[in-house]
Amino acid sequence: MTQGRSGIRFDRVCVAYGGNTVLDSLELTVEPGEVMALLGPSGSGKTTALRAVAGFVRPASGRVFIGERDVTDLPPHRRGIGMVVQSYALFPHLRVADNVAFGMRAQKVPKAEIPGRVAEALELTGMAAYARRYPRELSGGQQQRVAIARALAIRPGVLLLDEPLSALDAQLRSGMLAELARLHRELPDVSILYVTHDQVEALTLADRIAVMDKARLQDVGTPQELYRTPRTEFTASFVGGANLLPVRVASGSVSFGQAELKVPTDGVAPGATATLCVRPHLVGLGDGPNALTGTVTEVQWRGSTHRLYVEVDGRQVKADVRELRQPPALGERATVHFAPEDAVLLRAGVTDDD
Ligand SMILES: Nc1ncnc2c1ncn2[C@@H]1O[C@H](COP(=O)(O)OP(=O)(O)OP(=O)(O)O)[C@@H](O)[C@H]1O
Ligand SMILES: [Mg+2]
Repeated sequence: MTQGRSGIRFDRVCVAYGGNTVLDSLELTVEPGEVMALLGPSGSGKTTALRAVAGFVRPASGRVFIGERDVTDLPPHRRGIGMVVQSYALFPHLRVADNVAFGMRAQKVPKAEIPGRVAEALELTGMAAYARRYPRELSGGQQQRVAIARALAIRPGVLLLDEPLSALDAQLRSGMLAELARLHRELPDVSILYVTHDQVEALTLADRIAVMDKARLQDVGTPQELYRTPRTEFTASFVGGANLLPVRVASGSVSFGQAELKVPTDGVAPGATATLCVRPHLVGLGDGPNALTGTVTEVQWRGSTHRLYVEVDGRQVKADVRELRQPPALGERATVHFAPEDAVLLRAGVTDDD
């Protein structure tokens, strides 16, 4: 059904507003059936990228492809996309069923087909029982489902979701995340481009994550790749928390202040400066391999874990450890450690331009 209409390709897409580049030569491919999360801080260009696919913003240069088609010059309604934005944008004066039918009317779907497709889309999103309600008679989560049903009713090859869950509370959000995952299993051919600045959403839903910062694509990879072996400091700190320690490289080890740490150094020349990335949950309290001793500067209780900040050589080393019966006191000396294989060496300077 979606053959040839699924998949997205940005071919060096630039977008500028009044001479200000907000999307800088984006090159990115979303495969047919793939869920790609676009992750990045506010203002990094995520919505702009989505709007370029939808046809609401015209690239200054570059081309946009949906499936095999170059859609750069096509108006939005001819691109075969479904789009859901943060505010849902349901029509308040239309019942749920008419909201869902709306896009199909615009697309001139034969009249006789519309009721069946409305029913199908409402079924998919678990909203069949609400067809005759008005948006104001629905909860936020239900309105969100209707917005998704409306986007799906046109049977898009590509579904664009812009922070679709950000208006929902935390519990609803995690429920909707599971719903979206289920929806994608039922529509395995549809490509989904999912904009978020929530890393949990990106890690949970996406086949791959594209990390954006300052109008540029910084990194792209599977959630596991970006989390376990980030290439840049930006990715390391944005996709999961990270300890980033400035080190000098020797062979098979690095020095951090007075400490010598055994870590994999493949491909990095001895003598170079670099950044060592260690995830806080992989840092243990007490002595062990790669031990670092310093002063406890902060202790945070987080329910099932304690987050400890230990100042070593002027740097705060963060350790997330299982809840402690007797957490260390502020100002106390403490030793933390991590296994050599849990550290990743990032080449210095990768984050500053290219
Ligand atoms: N219509 C517009 N006119 C001028 N500048 C704009 C316009 N739309 C967006 N921008 C600017 O483009 C940049 C990227 O905006 P964009 O909406 O793509 O960011 P975003 O990554 O989606 O951020 P957020 O997470 O806050 O939604 C921002 O600096 C923004 O101010
Ligand atoms: Mg945005």
